[in-house]
Amino acid sequence: MERLIINSSGPLRGRSTGGAVRVPGDKSISHRAVMLGAIAEGTSRVSGFLTGEDSVNTAKALAAMGVGIEGLGGPELVIHGVGLRGLKAPGGVLDLGNSGTSIRLLSGLMSGQGFGATLTGDQYLRKRPMTRIVKPLSQMGAIISGEGEKNYPPLEIKPCGRLSGINYSSPIASAQVKSAVLLAGLYANGTTTVTEPMKSRDHTERMLKYMGAEVNVERLSVSITGGQRLVARDLTVPGDISSAAFPMVAAAIVPGSKVVISDVGINPTRTGIIDILRLMNARISVENVRNDGPEPIADITVEYSKLGGTEIGGELFLRAIDEFPIICIAAAAAKGTTVIKDAAELRVKESDRISAMAGELTRIGVKVIETPDGMIIHGGTPIHAAEVDSHGDHRVAMSLAVAGLIAQGGEMVINDTENIKTSFPGFVELLESLK
Ligand code: S3P
Repeated sequence: MERLIINSSGPLRGRSTGGAVRVPGDKSISHRAVMLGAIAEGTSRVSGFLTGEDSVNTAKALAAMGVGIEGLGGPELVIHGVGLRGLKAPGGVLDLGNSGTSIRLLSGLMSGQGFGATLTGDQYLRKRPMTRIVKPLSQMGAIISGEGEKNYPPLEIKPCGRLSGINYSSPIASAQVKSAVLLAGLYANGTTTVTEPMKSRDHTERMLKYMGAEVNVERLSVSITGGQRLVARDLTVPGDISSAAFPMVAAAIVPGSKVVISDVGINPTRTGIIDILRLMNARISVENVRNDGPEPIADITVEYSKLGGTEIGGELFLRAIDEFPIICIAAAAAKGTTVIKDAAELRVKESDRISAMAGELTRIGVKVIETPDGMIIHGGTPIHAAEVDSHGDHRVAMSLAVAGLIAQGGEMVINDTENIKTSFPGFVELLESLK
């Protein structure tokens, strides 16, 4: 079992090119780039593809379905699209490791293929509920099921007739659900519409449009008509704001720090972390805003300041859904109380992130109250170095590492950290380079 040892640090500075640091490619966008490139007509060159295990697992699954992908495992991919109807039955079970996005989006993509397949993952993925996609995909005519009432993986997809478009009102705001249904909608008769209670990340819609599909977005509803051809297009994947969140919070809480992170994706459905840190009195500037392909990017500078508590819920929380563990660390360092609510979805992420963070924060001396849909954190008291655990969750591991930078009384030892490479290869090196 890998473990990480982090010592408290003096002021952090960006030390790579031009004083700025870069984070790996956006995980959500990497998944979509390789999926849509695979079913497009023509060759797409993708640069900045995330070399983390999650997105590589998506690429491997598509390669197993007959898609030629040059550079697999690296950040520069050449994807030889096979067209909407060109995928072939995979030879064996598709193992998607830890990746919820891979299994849910691929299930949508594969439901209408006319061939069967089995999709599975690691011990953590096999505990994540799939009913949220099994239900709408079944309504479209797909034959898909998992284990038990919650349809845990492995997911079995059986060949079926042509899917039918549906009008689906999702009970949860989930980009994975929305994307799975839209991808199945590409293979369905007629129009498929997904409506969600709040707007989740919209990378799928943006990339579909970028590759020539007609997608209609009206407030909280997205519609697509089946049978549309996608046209291959080159793409540079922006830096992942969910990875940038770790050096951002590190700079915000380590006295005297100033860190610039360049080329970060700032899609408004993802920038909750910037707004939340600003509410907490952080000093952040977003500069050099530009569009690169379907997504906006910018350079983000964060300087140390004395943080205060805040209240986070609703859409603001949704726009920072993956940042909960690192927000907990910012809240622990902030003077005052932070209340996080509307976050029940976190109980079914890579770990139960509410219970995982409540437990680990308590171990490092932070006063927290766990609630059914969030947490109350009384911050501003010293964080103590301790032996802590990732719960098998990459973002919990990295958040505790950032806490180690300001911990008192020794070194922070984080157990079970190999999962960091699912989303942020080079995390430890980047953190060290800032010291
Ligand atoms: C993702 C959507 C989010 C997010 C996950 C990646 C995506 O999940 O938490 O890390 O790429 O679509 P939900 O949409 O299920 O909330």
